[in-house]
Amino acid sequence: MEISGTANLEQDWIGDVLAIGFIEGQIALENSRAQLDQKLNGLVSEIITESKFEGKAGSNVSLKIAGIKDLKRIILVGLGKEPSLDNIRNAAATVAREAKKNKSLSIALPVIEADAQKIAQALTEGLLLGLYKDERFKSEPEKKELELESVELLGLPDTQASIELAQTIISGVILAKELVAAPANFVTPLEMAQNAYQIAQQYGLGLKVLEEQDCKELAMGAFLGVGQASNLPPKFIHLTYTPSQKASKKVAIIGKSLTFDSGGLNIKGQGSGIETMKMDMAGGAATLGAAKVIGQLKPEIEVHFICAATENMISGNAMHPGDILTASNGKTIEIINTDAEGRLTLADALVYAEKLEVDYIVDLATLTGACVVALGDDIAGLWSTDQDLIDQLQQAAKDSGEKIWLMPLESNYFEAIKSPIADLKNVGSRAGGSITAALFLKEFIKETPWAHLDIAGPVWADKTSGINNAGATGFPVRTLVSWILALADH
Ligand code: BES
Ligand code: MG
Ligand code: ZN
Repeated sequence: MEISGTANLEQDWIGDVLAIGFIEGQIALENSRAQLDQKLNGLVSEIITESKFEGKAGSNVSLKIAGIKDLKRIILVGLGKEPSLDNIRNAAATVAREAKKNKSLSIALPVIEADAQKIAQALTEGLLLGLYKDERFKSEPEKKELELESVELLGLPDTQASIELAQTIISGVILAKELVAAPANFVTPLEMAQNAYQIAQQYGLGLKVLEEQDCKELAMGAFLGVGQASNLPPKFIHLTYTPSQKASKKVAIIGKSLTFDSGGLNIKGQGSGIETMKMDMAGGAATLGAAKVIGQLKPEIEVHFICAATENMISGNAMHPGDILTASNGKTIEIINTDAEGRLTLADALVYAEKLEVDYIVDLATLTGACVVALGDDIAGLWSTDQDLIDQLQQAAKDSGEKIWLMPLESNYFEAIKSPIADLKNVGSRAGGSITAALFLKEFIKETPWAHLDIAGPVWADKTSGINNAGATGFPVRTLVSWILALADH
């Protein structure tokens, strides 16, 4: 599909579908919109009146048209009172869903006080996400007689670079979605490593995959303990993007990569959502998604992408509740609950990342149900030891329209994860479960500024809404990319 920005205005639309955005409360048809209305014999004003369309964010009217040459459908879409980039991105996704069975589409926005480049980027992101459909596991994909071939962004000339930037970013979001949505019999630790290999080959990144034996030599007892009941060998994946010139900054991104989380001997029971636990590698999927984007954009910053990939299973070889594991920094962990496994895999990954002497470490993990209880399905929790990093990530999330919320590293709660027999317990009490999980991770960082995102909620959407079609969302690839690009610019 080709997307292009043109200087054309409403009345010069080209194509089967015309989508017109409206700011809430500014529905009057003026200038080029009045001309369009005239050209269409008052059709637009008629639709507005008949449907009581007000331009509210998220609202839309989509109408099949007969009797007007070349035009098959009109879509009116609301941008809300403040036509923010978020609202524009969401509106574009709505338009895409309404227009997808046609060959060509033109989108016209009202005059908005925002950077045209940013608008074109947001529109493209929304369009591509709204059109996304995963039919990999259907024996017969839906028959499409027609498919969108071209989209024109009216009134947005000279925005090709921003359109291409959005296309590149969404290629990483879609990789993350596909990895998360594919079940555990497809996306195994080996498959994660093979995806990393493809990214490395295609975009010239460095790749090191530590096998089980390598991890033993590095004394990664926590990571290996989690994987020991699986029939599939664990893979500790480390992709490195090195810019052409010597970088002034180095960062590491670590993604929790449990390709399946059964809970282990503390097996997840009925109603626990065990059948959704293919998504427990969403942190790793976002890490690879970001690597795919950064490999293409080639910013001036060194980035390490790390996925400690394994499965949490049961067998005669499974960890027992009560076992004591030793992580690669020497800390001992009493396993109170085998279902609190993500933090064990991350412990060794954090220790590994800190040895790379990076400026920042960010981990992403579908770590706790407690975080979903605290913040709901749409918002990730953020914990960090560093105010600069907090500011950077909050800005990046805001720019991307992905929601994160700062949570406390309340040191008093550390008492809950002290073990009488080992250094740490892997779970505290139920109360504040996402906070004690973050405090646990902090034990594996010495001094590098670090942030942890608990993404258990927003990596999956039960219903289609905004830019997310129901299913895997690819969260937070866009935030990661935005963060890395901003760091590289400084
Ligand atoms: N992978 C889960 C967390 C999770 C829950 C992710 C819901 C996505 C949706 C994690 O490994 C887990 O099982 N956490 C336990 C921790 C508990 C045993 C302390 C949880 O949240 O119940
Ligand atoms: Mg678990
Ligand atoms: Zn898990």
